[in-house]
Amino acid sequence: MAEKKSFYITTPIFYPNGKPHMGHAYSEVLADCVARYHRLIGDTTYFLTGTDENTAKIPRAAEKVGKEPKEFTDEIVSGFKSFFSDLNISYDQFIRTSDEKAHWPGAQELWRRLEAAGDIYKDTYSGLYCVGAESFVTEKDLVDGKCPDHDELPQKIEEENYFFRLSKYTDPIRKLIESNELLIVPETRKREVLLLLDEGLKDISFSRPIKEVPWGIPVPGDDTQVMYVWCDALTNYISALGFGQEGGDFNTFWPADWHVLGKDIVRFHAAIWPAMLLSAGLPLSKQLLVHGLILSNGRKMSKSLGNVLDPALFIEKYGADAVRYYLAREVSPFDDGDMTEEKFIEAYNGNLANGLGNAVARIITMARSYEVPFGEVAFLSSEEVLAGEHVAPYKKAFEAFRIDEAADYVWSEIACIDGYIAEHEPYKLAKTDMKKTHEHLIFLLKKLWEIAILLEPFLPTTALTIQTALKNGEQPDNLFPRIA
Ligand code: MSP
Repeated sequence: MAEKKSFYITTPIFYPNGKPHMGHAYSEVLADCVARYHRLIGDTTYFLTGTDENTAKIPRAAEKVGKEPKEFTDEIVSGFKSFFSDLNISYDQFIRTSDEKAHWPGAQELWRRLEAAGDIYKDTYSGLYCVGAESFVTEKDLVDGKCPDHDELPQKIEEENYFFRLSKYTDPIRKLIESNELLIVPETRKREVLLLLDEGLKDISFSRPIKEVPWGIPVPGDDTQVMYVWCDALTNYISALGFGQEGGDFNTFWPADWHVLGKDIVRFHAAIWPAMLLSAGLPLSKQLLVHGLILSNGRKMSKSLGNVLDPALFIEKYGADAVRYYLAREVSPFDDGDMTEEKFIEAYNGNLANGLGNAVARIITMARSYEVPFGEVAFLSSEEVLAGEHVAPYKKAFEAFRIDEAADYVWSEIACIDGYIAEHEPYKLAKTDMKKTHEHLIFLLKKLWEIAILLEPFLPTTALTIQTALKNGEQPDNLFPRIA
């Protein structure tokens, strides 16, 4: 068994300018499966998520519904939290960048460090800004004059800002990425970042005047300016561990093992964030795991585009585990995946109602009707299951962020069970040889137990239901009723 260690995993922090959508659920479910897997193998795991609130999107969205930004975000954030709880997300901390106690000291301390390193200077920014992306953009980023991801016209701005000397870090970052000291997974994203570095990084505006953005973290020593939202947001990964404050878990968990993020925000994580850490003299995060996007009608699902699927409705209709299943297995983490209710129902009926649900019901029904003594079946501990040699592909898949392949492994074990039943036909054998029938069924119960352990990262509720049923020799309620 691999050596136990600490494992720190983060998701991006979400803009709380509207209800969570399926794209948000995606980042969250992938990270949650990984966090649960690490707990399962015995790692001391810390899983961070949260909201990115110092964005110009907030006052804009709040005004539309006639609310004050604070009241507006509090409501949306509590919606995010209850949604994550409905989705069974096992985060250890939910950080809000509007939290002056938890987040601001870390963000301001990091700023001071960049300044002390001589990497902050004042200059005039004159150019374009897309609020949807919270990003300074150039003409070549636009399609028909608009930001293609957000379908909106950028603002023209000219203002005096603090700049961060990002250009200085082009070569050091390239070396770290080339040598995999900062590992970017998958390889295609790594190549993309290296191409960007070939063009050379440009210094970046790192603050905005408070009169333009009245909602943000004051720049230390100059309260006419607030930090640029990405500078403040990226810092959440360390402020959450108590960086810039007394105590906290910084020394236990930093550097982060995995930052999980969508491909639309790679350059912020692969260029700006490592540069900030280098400038501040802090260890770099170890890996960026970059997932694809959930599309709807071929375009990124996003609030700005108004083409979102409401994951809360899916949870209500089909259950959290079914939604988790779809996102974890039916979408390949490195590709974009179109999601429709039709595809969802097909996968549900095929692999949850049939596949898993059917196998559980059949085995437990047989074992009960042939009076297998459940209490005497020696089930393995999680540790023993995970130590099994044949489980290696499952572990390997998780280590490579191939959550879909780790799930494929579990479903291949379910198929083995079906094959075993077809081969040994315990229901026929029961007429002539009950001892042999019991042996087969005990083998199947043990196999099912193993499956229920391996399912924990994906379907935590179902996994537990199956385990309880096996321990008590009970038939659980229909796990996944067929959808007509
Ligand atoms: N606030 C920034 C992240 C700051 S991290 C220091 C942000 N927020 S977001 O709400 O727009 O997106 C958060 C996460 O959701 C990102 O990983 C993004 O890729 C993911 N998704 C948002 N829409 C998505 C899809 N349609 N599909 C899959 N994930 C996408 O960016």
